[in-house]
Amino acid sequence: MPGNEQRRVKLSHRARTRPAAGIRTLFPKEKVPGMISLLAGKPNEKSFPFKALTIDTQGADGEDVKLKVDGEELAEALNYGLTPGITGLVQWLMEFQARAHNRPIGPDWRLNLGAGSQDLIIKTFEAMMDRGDVILAEDPVYAGVLPALESQGCRVVPVPTNRDGIIVSQLQHILENWESAPMTKDLPRPKCLYTSPTGGNPSGTTQTEAVKEGVLREAIKHDFTILEDDPYYYLEYPTAGAPASSAVDRPRPRSYWSMDYEWGNGHVVRFESFSKLIGAGLRVGFAMGPAYILDAVDAHTANTNLQPSGLSQVVIYSLLRNWGSEGFYKHVDRTAAMYREKAVRFEECARRILCKPGLARFETPTAGMFLWLELNLPESKADTMAFISEKAVPAGVLAVPGFVFLPLPQRTKYVRVSFSKLADEDFEEACMRLKRAVEACWEEVGESVPEVGV
Ligand SMILES: Cc1ncc(COP(=O)(O)O)c(C=O)c1O
Repeated sequence: MPGNEQRRVKLSHRARTRPAAGIRTLFPKEKVPGMISLLAGKPNEKSFPFKALTIDTQGADGEDVKLKVDGEELAEALNYGLTPGITGLVQWLMEFQARAHNRPIGPDWRLNLGAGSQDLIIKTFEAMMDRGDVILAEDPVYAGVLPALESQGCRVVPVPTNRDGIIVSQLQHILENWESAPMTKDLPRPKCLYTSPTGGNPSGTTQTEAVKEGVLREAIKHDFTILEDDPYYYLEYPTAGAPASSAVDRPRPRSYWSMDYEWGNGHVVRFESFSKLIGAGLRVGFAMGPAYILDAVDAHTANTNLQPSGLSQVVIYSLLRNWGSEGFYKHVDRTAAMYREKAVRFEECARRILCKPGLARFETPTAGMFLWLELNLPESKADTMAFISEKAVPAGVLAVPGFVFLPLPQRTKYVRVSFSKLADEDFEEACMRLKRAVEACWEEVGESVPEVGV
């Protein structure tokens, strides 16, 4: 509730005991007017061989725009900079996010940048959880978080999902039976829940607002923090035929972080990324959340990779300044429309070639770039790791075996298929090759493919 005192949880032992990075904590003081800085370590930019950065970009309406970064701004970008990111970019993003998520700038949150959202997510896990602590995770879950959780010694408890996201009744059941259920009875209660609510990776589906409300209520009731990883937020497919001019004003789904302002306050850390929108190799993502959590993440950064790339940040900042929020919205809508077109065409091929003859089934994706295919494999072959290496690769097609997305390791008939970079002319052939690979499994057991619901 606005004005509510903010919830504050105990951070991990590592976060509480991490020594401050002596020099970096003094960096902000260099900005005090009149300050003479004798802080060690910053090279003199005059020695750097770059005079200016000229970038050919796409303007707000898709037109050609040349951007230039030089002088003080380039010098700052090329040097060591502030741990949470370049001040102007942080400010731009805070103002943008405040409007986008209807959560005014205030003492209850701040924003920091990282080397991609992955960097911030993994550091947040470490800031909030100790070895043996428990995190709830949607099942299937973004595979990129599982190795880090395992190496940090955290226990992952899977929460079932369907096409609307987390199944709230199942989440309630898990939480209410924690002390008696075989899976959880010997575990401490969960500290966090990790979810990727829009265009889930790998599910391709999007959580409804009702689901988010239900999950947030559980977070408040059972006192855990929702880690909302939303890199596909702007890649929700536009409704066919919606006027392009509505990019700025059209309503977008409410985030957990937005709802947290109304009901919770301190139950959500939200992660976004420029990877899917502007350039994955730039390695810039950002987080919004309670200052004490983001401070712990920054302290981790200050002791490890020091800061996100200044050059990447300044490229993004100059682009955003030129676009303004309107240009950003237009760009992300163009991007979402491109993926929608691919999704529609790929789905048509997959349904015709794979689902109709009963070889696979899937939920229609609503955002992002994935299909989560359940293959119809004979029980003795129901392991898509073996399927990919022994049948798909020889058939000339690659997909990700589903087990990497399962919080608890087990055999699975699922594969994740990405259509993001597939050329249109290859859609049909990709599905045909998957079809031949599935058929090869049935031939091997000497059976014909049984009929399944499409
Ligand atoms: C759900 C999800 N979270 C995080 C990431 C990592 O993104 P970034 O490039 O910002 O580190 C990805 C990348 O695929 C993703 O799908």
